[in-house]
Amino acid sequence: MAKHVIPHSYQVSKKDRITANNHNSFLLWFTGLSGSGKSTIANVVEQQLHKMDIKTYTLDGDNIRKGINNDLSFSPEDRTENIRRIAEVSNLMIDAGLVVLAAFVSPYKKDRDNIRTIVKDVNFVEIYVNTSLEECERRDVKGLYKKARAGEIKNMTGISAPYEAPKNPHIEIKTETESVEDAVARIIDYITPKLKLNNE
Ligand code: ADX
Repeated sequence: MAKHVIPHSYQVSKKDRITANNHNSFLLWFTGLSGSGKSTIANVVEQQLHKMDIKTYTLDGDNIRKGINNDLSFSPEDRTENIRRIAEVSNLMIDAGLVVLAAFVSPYKKDRDNIRTIVKDVNFVEIYVNTSLEECERRDVKGLYKKARAGEIKNMTGISAPYEAPKNPHIEIKTETESVEDAVARIIDYITPKLKLNNE
C-alpha cells in the first residue's frame, strides 16, 4: 500500500532530538485489566520523570479512544487496530524524543508482540499491572463490571472477553500487595540506565 511513498530525508534526526533532550526515548507499556491501576501508576511515574527533566507524554483510553480511535469498538479486531494505531503513534513520539507512557488493557499477546515489532524491542518496556479480577471488580471504579455482569456491556475483558497475561513482562506489579510508591520506585530504577545516552 505504501509502495509509492518515498521518504524525504529530514536533516534533524532522532539522535539530534535525544541529544538536545539529554535522554533516550522509549515506550513504557502498561497492560492489565480495566481498573487494575495502570493509569494511576503511569501518572505517578510521569510526575517523577517530569521532576527529573525528562520529556514525556501519556497515552490512555481517555485521549485515544475519544479521539483518533473513536471509530473502534471492543471487538477483538477493533482492539487489535486500537493497539496497532497506538503503537504507531508511540513510535512517532519515540522518534520525537519522548518517553511515552501508554496504559491500555491490551488483552491479546499477539497485539502486544506487534507493538514490540513496531517500536522495536529495545524501545519497549512491558509493565504488567497484575490485579486480580476479583479486586478490579470489587473496586469497579467506573461501574463497568456491574454493567457487564448485568449483560449491559458485551466483550468486557475478564468477564466475557479474555485477558492473556504476559508471561515474561519486564516488570510485574501486584497492586494488591505492593504500594503505588514502591511500584513507581521499581519502574524508575529499571528505566534509569535506559534513559542515559550512550556517550555518557
Ligand atoms: S483495549 O482492550 O483495546 O486495549 P482500552 O485500554 O483501549 O482497551 O480501553 C479499555 C477501557 O475502556 C477500560 O478501562 C474501560 O474503562 C473501558 N471499556 C469499555 N468497554 C469495555 C470492554 N468491553 N472491555 C474492556 N474495557 C472496556
